[in-house]
Amino acid sequence: MDLNGVKMTTVDLNSDYWNTRYVQNKTGWDIGYANPIHINYVFDNIDKTARILIPGAGSGYELSILWDNGYINIFAIDLSEEARERFLSQHPLFPKDQYLVGNFFELDHKFDLILEQTFFCAIDPQLRNRYAEKTWGILNQNGKLFGVLFSVKFEVGPPFGGNIQEYENLFSSKFSILKLENCEDSISPRQGKEVIIELMKK
Ligand SMILES: C[S@@+](CC[C@H](N)C(=O)[O-])C[C@H]1O[C@@H](n2cnc3c(N)ncnc32)[C@H](O)[C@@H]1O
Repeated sequence: MDLNGVKMTTVDLNSDYWNTRYVQNKTGWDIGYANPIHINYVFDNIDKTARILIPGAGSGYELSILWDNGYINIFAIDLSEEARERFLSQHPLFPKDQYLVGNFFELDHKFDLILEQTFFCAIDPQLRNRYAEKTWGILNQNGKLFGVLFSVKFEVGPPFGGNIQEYENLFSSKFSILKLENCEDSISPRQGKEVIIELMKK
């Protein structure tokens, strides 16, 4: 399938697909450490009691650093049981019921902050409106969506890319755009390929 010139993968991006990627160690997106962009943002701006969600958290590096630093209301959700098991085996003291296995789009909890890191790019681009609606829907009043999004186009996805104009169109009816600009602090393999977003629920 071809969507705006981007070839769509022919597989279903379901839990089997993602779980198998972890089982077979085909996890090229996994940078192996917590992205400092997210950590610094939370340390500088977010109260320790805030309810924080990391959707599609995978190995959960940001999750463990924030937990270790007193952010006790931090939650993760991922379709992959294997990803969760790996995280919990490395972090046995992390509360098991705060790393959920399931579909982000079916989540029924409220948060003050959602941290975006290579989850948006992993979902079928046809679900992007649902992503905007869902993030809006599960944020508390004045809640924020913060993170990085790819600003390049990939030949085949996932990952699926995009650009600033597309993101502005997608989010501006539901969020006040506090920041949507080229990211200066990307990790080196992603330099020049990301935008940083800080969006507040309208
Ligand atoms: C590209 S990986 C990124 C993982 C992690 N954020 C990181 O940066 O290492 C995308 C993750 O999203 C998860 N995922 C994909 N679709 C999902 C959905 N609908 N609900 C929850 N998790 C999902 C996958 O299992 C996978 O762990």
